[in-house]
Amino acid sequence: MQLLNSFFGLVASATLLVSSGSAAPSNTLYRKSSKASHSNDVNNGVGVNHTFGVLGFREKSGYDYTVWHVSPTSGKTYLRPWDDAVDPAVFMIDEESFLRLASDSNKYAYIGANRDLQFTNHTDYKKKQHDDGSHRVDLTQRKPANNFAATQQCGKLDPFGYVLKRSGKGFMHCGTQVFTGAGRSIDCEDIDSVAFNLSDYRSQYTGLSNTSISSEQYYSNRSADIPPKSERLQPHGIYNYNYKAPDKRMQRFTIPQVSSANGQNQSVLQTFDVPYGRSLYYYTKCALDIRLTNEFFPLNVSSSNGPAEFVVYNMSGNPKKQTTSNKGPTRLSEVARFQCSNYGCEYSTNIACPRAGHSHTYEIAAANPDTSMSWVHTISPRLGMTMFVYSNANYD
Ligand SMILES: *[C@@H]1O[C@H](CO)[C@@H](O)[C@H](O)[C@H]1NC(C)=O
Ligand SMILES: *[C@@H]1O[C@H](CO)[C@@H](O)[C@H](O)[C@H]1NC(C)=O
Ligand SMILES: *[C@@H]1O[C@H](CO)[C@@H](O)[C@H](O)[C@H]1NC(C)=O
Ligand SMILES: *[C@@H]1O[C@H](CO)[C@@H](O)[C@H](O)[C@H]1NC(C)=O
Ligand SMILES: *[C@@H]1O[C@H](CO)[C@@H](O)[C@H](O)[C@H]1NC(C)=O
Ligand SMILES: *[C@@H]1O[C@H](CO)[C@@H](O)[C@H](O)[C@H]1NC(C)=O
Ligand SMILES: *[C@@H]1O[C@H](CO)[C@@H](O)[C@H](O)[C@H]1NC(C)=O
Ligand SMILES: *[C@@H]1O[C@H](CO)[C@@H](O)[C@H](O)[C@H]1NC(C)=O
Repeated sequence: MQLLNSFFGLVASATLLVSSGSAAPSNTLYRKSSKASHSNDVNNGVGVNHTFGVLGFREKSGYDYTVWHVSPTSGKTYLRPWDDAVDPAVFMIDEESFLRLASDSNKYAYIGANRDLQFTNHTDYKKKQHDDGSHRVDLTQRKPANNFAATQQCGKLDPFGYVLKRSGKGFMHCGTQVFTGAGRSIDCEDIDSVAFNLSDYRSQYTGLSNTSISSEQYYSNRSADIPPKSERLQPHGIYNYNYKAPDKRMQRFTIPQVSSANGQNQSVLQTFDVPYGRSLYYYTKCALDIRLTNEFFPLNVSSSNGPAEFVVYNMSGNPKKQTTSNKGPTRLSEVARFQCSNYGCEYSTNIACPRAGHSHTYEIAAANPDTSMSWVHTISPRLGMTMFVYSNANYD
């Protein structure tokens, strides 16, 4: 087994939005007319003028966690790096509930023709209205949209963030792009959007070893005859698996948490869909890559004695949402073992290639008593466990 270990040694920077829990519920009857309770409202959750990143997650398809990106040229919002949107976007909500880019606060969100969420300069729009005396709207400019708020604590990711909404409604994605609530079409799906406090997000991003992160392919074409030569697979399902609550359903869309501390026995199951190729083609080499840092999202590793060590097992089957550890897949073999710390870890371990065209589940468990780890899996920048597959497909 090959183990590569390089600690990032970076200083923790992502600060959690912690709910104060102290704000008294506002009196809805007087909410509209009372300035004081209005500002109380907007300062709940993510608050006014605070910067945040947005994590999207989808129930039905694809990968569990993605980070919103905004194209600096088109202003369109994407679930992941796309075109020239290579950096995760950092947002803020101002006192008038306009959503703006923190990197360029002249850029306001507006709702595009297809109800897509876009950003553009709006200084001119405002100026035109006020300076030419006509109060006419300059139709070449887009009208900024307000009514954005991130005040409601996110239940599913509780307590890691606040749900971002516009006019009380969530967002959806159609393909990779982010849209506001209306305009459904067949490839559109609601997403949950969680505002994280990532005030140092952008500056820290430059410290990341960013090699081809943004250019990596994230989606498989599972109907293709010939699989790609190599591909990084993201887990399509991430579940907390609790051996101490054998009849409790697994939890999805929570922070993955492995723990053997305080009498717990919880691990994390990750399911990968290995792309299909004609039976002629096989994957010739496969690796599990584990990459965790504390740069963007909380990483909490603890161990009562010595380095925190974790084991990865391949499993006898794939869990479903209803699966309990009593009835779920069981461990087959140890396929990897790695150590991690609060600074992060990066490992690559070759594994026996699983069968193409099928789903395969791997478990991450604590190797020793009193060891725990929790993290956030995102595809951009890539954090968590991924599988890299290489094929011997002949393209000639
Ligand atoms: C987010 O984190 C920064 C840096 O730690 C802090 O100054 C800011 O107040 C935090 N914002 C919120 C809304 O908690
Ligand atoms: C937000 O920023 C604006 C402009 O800098 C400032 O006038 C306002 O007082 C700030 N509001 C809060 C709640 O910090
Ligand atoms: C938007 O505003 C920035 C400065 O805030 C400016 O550099 C840029 O040229 C503007 N873009 C357009 C399209 O007006
Ligand atoms: C990656 O980092 C290098 C320098 O370390 C920088 O030149 C390059 O622009 C970065 N790429 C992206 C996509 O951020
Ligand atoms: C996926 O592969 C099939 C078969 O090769 C091809 O017809 C289809 O266009 C591909 N789809 C995409 C999105 O590349
Ligand atoms: C946790 O549960 C697994 C599966 O039943 C078992 O093999 C393992 O020994 C348990 N670990 C602890 C620390 O209880
Ligand atoms: C990290 O995990 C340990 C063990 O579960 C817990 O005691 C501690 O409070 C956690 N720290 C943070 C910052 O979440
Ligand atoms: C599980 O891992 C073992 C050891 O690497 C390997 O021999 C076996 O084929 C794997 N089984 C599956 C279903 O991946």
